[in-house]
Amino acid sequence: MQPIERLGAFYLGREVDPETRDRSDAAVMYDARDLTTHGVCVGMTGSGKTGLCVGLLEEAALDGVPALIIDPKGDIANLLLTFPELRPEDFAPWINPDDARRKGMDIPAYAKKTADTWRAGLAEWGQDGERIRRLRGSADFRVYTPGSDAGVPVSILSSLRAPRQGWEGNEEGLREQIRGTVSALLGLAGVEADPLRSPEHILLANIFEHAWRQGRDLDLAALITSIQNPPVRKLGVFDVDTFYPAKDRFGLAMALNNIMASPGFAPWLQGDPLDIAALLQAPDGRPRHAIFSIAHLDDQQRMFFVTLLLEQTVAWVRRQSGTTSLRALLYMDEVFGFLPPSANPPSKAPMLTLLKQARAAGLGVVLTTQNPVDLDYKALSNTGTWFIGKLQTEQDKARILDGLESASGGVDRGTISDLIGDLGQRVFLLHNVHESAPLLFQTRWAMSYLRGPLTRDQIRTLKPVEADGATPAPAAGAPTVAATTAEIAEIAAADTADALPEGYQRTPPALPPTLPQAYLPVALSDADGVTALADREGRALTDAAAALVYEPRLVALGRVGFVDRRRGVDDERAIGLLLDPESVGTIVRWDDGEPIDLDANALEPAAGGEAVFAPVPGTLDKTKKIKAANKDFRDHLYQSQTLEIFHIPELKLYGEAGESEAEFLGRARLAAREKRDAEVDKLRRKVQRALDRLEKKLAREERELEEDKADYSARKREELLSAGETLIGMLGVFGGRKRTSGLSSAARKRRMTSNAKMDIAESEEEIAVLREEIEAVQAQFEEDAEAIAEKWDALLDAPGTHAVKPRRTDVRVDVVALAWTPVWEIGHTSAGGRRTGGRVEAWRQVSG
Ligand SMILES: Nc1ncnc2c1ncn2[C@@H]1O[C@H](COP(=O)(O)OP(=O)(O)OP(=O)(O)O)[C@@H](O)[C@H]1O
Ligand SMILES: [Mg+2]
Repeated sequence: MQPIERLGAFYLGREVDPETRDRSDAAVMYDARDLTTHGVCVGMTGSGKTGLCVGLLEEAALDGVPALIIDPKGDIANLLLTFPELRPEDFAPWINPDDARRKGMDIPAYAKKTADTWRAGLAEWGQDGERIRRLRGSADFRVYTPGSDAGVPVSILSSLRAPRQGWEGNEEGLREQIRGTVSALLGLAGVEADPLRSPEHILLANIFEHAWRQGRDLDLAALITSIQNPPVRKLGVFDVDTFYPAKDRFGLAMALNNIMASPGFAPWLQGDPLDIAALLQAPDGRPRHAIFSIAHLDDQQRMFFVTLLLEQTVAWVRRQSGTTSLRALLYMDEVFGFLPPSANPPSKAPMLTLLKQARAAGLGVVLTTQNPVDLDYKALSNTGTWFIGKLQTEQDKARILDGLESASGGVDRGTISDLIGDLGQRVFLLHNVHESAPLLFQTRWAMSYLRGPLTRDQIRTLKPVEADGATPAPAAGAPTVAATTAEIAEIAAADTADALPEGYQRTPPALPPTLPQAYLPVALSDADGVTALADREGRALTDAAAALVYEPRLVALGRVGFVDRRRGVDDERAIGLLLDPESVGTIVRWDDGEPIDLDANALEPAAGGEAVFAPVPGTLDKTKKIKAANKDFRDHLYQSQTLEIFHIPELKLYGEAGESEAEFLGRARLAAREKRDAEVDKLRRKVQRALDRLEKKLAREERELEEDKADYSARKREELLSAGETLIGMLGVFGGRKRTSGLSSAARKRRMTSNAKMDIAESEEEIAVLREEIEAVQAQFEEDAEAIAEKWDALLDAPGTHAVKPRRTDVRVDVVALAWTPVWEIGHTSAGGRRTGGRVEAWRQVSG
């Protein structure tokens, strides 16, 4: 049998002779790169499409290629049923009891039979448990169940978030994404809307665009409120209310609200975000096969999810660099209804875009369907790979031939028609535009146990155990509780200046006019403050009275730019610190500062309403001191700030600012793959030259052997002849003439014969040596190629980082000033009837 492990090649099965339909030994090793021009797989139910594609996905996983897998029937979760030991007890929990019953067996017996079948099937195709073990280790297989927590749920909220690449310069792609997302949302609400004409669609798209332009994320609540109160007042030349009256808008808002507020919708908002880079990569760095099982959803929900997933994939594709290697796969097990020839469901537009644009990014799209009429062949023009299996009717055959012809062009209809006539189960025609001719093959045995669709409960038991059981850390920015003084708390009750504690006053203290001062904005109303305190104390407050007190602190806001043109870094980071007066001594202890997320523009020049001011300590009341702190802050920023980006020197690859490790590793994997492919190709060419030389020599030796053999038989004949002559001579048959030479000539002939025989032996030996040499060269090549792959792979294990330091000129201080920070001091009566108090910082948003 031919070897089945070859780098960058997928072992799909073995060739089938077109005449005899017998299976041969020739392995079908499909070049992974060919998949970047996408593939379609068509065949009637039971023809073996899913088996073929599961095999293809297994090969991709073995080769480190991640995949997004849309699984409308629930079959592909079988990729998680891989048992290296192939024990009956591994299979038993997954056995379909009906199957066992039909065979008149109990479950253990049927599990044993199934385990035996699988072991034998694998062996027949040159595979074993060891290969399964490698498969399991090579990728993270995970079943996602959108809208359900049976598997890992998927949160769709990220599809509403503002694009992180910004609006400017990306308008076209983003408008397309908005169109798809809006169509998906409306579809879910049962609204059939034309993107160009219907008011629902136009309004929603405008709401998205308005938010995204400003870099503002949307969520469902914001979306629904915006429908009733649109942030844009004009749509085209019309006023919103004329174009789409408020009464009708209310109807749409209700329709969306009814779906999204229903308890059944909650799982759509939980789980892993629909973030393609993160989906394609497990946290431990392995590529992931993300299986989206959508069998449990109704048609509208499926369309909704598939459209969102495709839209996100398009957006991801646009962010990727170009490549000719296979970066990732998108596989859809049954495309019926999602890419129809004569209708326009929301999924179609992003699918068409992917078929056109994914290639450049190295994303291969593979689509499967039972029925040749389900596909829009115009969309499939330029599809490089076609797998055609057993078809039900002559009509189906004719249709697929039409499709293939219109999509691929230049196909020999007669030949292909003959080939696809009468195909057996698991036998497919492979038409690959990168190869010279079509071929027939039978799919290899799948390593995964193809038990058929898994139920939701079964998927639940497959769920990967989350290692993360930690309680969430308290959210930053939660109100801090400070010691209260009943004295200050009572300020609210007191109206006269003399009731204020020592140093407190009702007007801002007199400070030098040159001293920079700023007011932090008041984010909580007095009522909010009381509620926050009540929440904290866990009871309603009696006779609550709140007073706004401003306390002096030091605020420092600045920005640091990180620019490194060579590494493509151009990023800016805003830094804000708030310091207590005690931290501002002869030196400022910046490290004790509290990080705050505040824009300099949000600072206010005066108090936000009637307030009391706390006394200013000596560390904060001198202009010189604050000016010095300003300079000091600049030095602090320069020294303390670095931007860490991922870096793998061997790949000359740097991360981007803000890029997740998953995204970086995704790019790194591709870069490593490209290097590997190039290096292996080079080695292969070199080895091929050596092999060519050896093969030529071998051919020569074989020719010589033939000649030697011919020579030998000629000599043998001659020897016999001359032996006969000698005998005749000796007997003096021909008239007593003495033939003295007879004997010696016969001996000479015998000697020549034995020489010829030796030549044969020599040639044979030479040939054996050459054959061995060829095998050794091939084996060495496999080994070297493996080592090359390992070398590049190992780089992904622990990506290093590179620190970008700011240039001095890229450090900017926006503000260093005395900061008046507002606090609600709240007095109330305790359960025991005593007057007591608490404080709530009024400049912080209470996080929800
Ligand atoms: N590569 C394979 N290895 C082992 N068994 C296979 C393989 N391919 C197919 N089979 C067997 O054949 C059955 C039918 O094949 P498969 O599910 O792949 O058909 P299909 O073309 O996907 O059908 P449908 O259109 O109904 O989904 C499988 O359940 C499995 O038992
Ligand atoms: Mg199938």
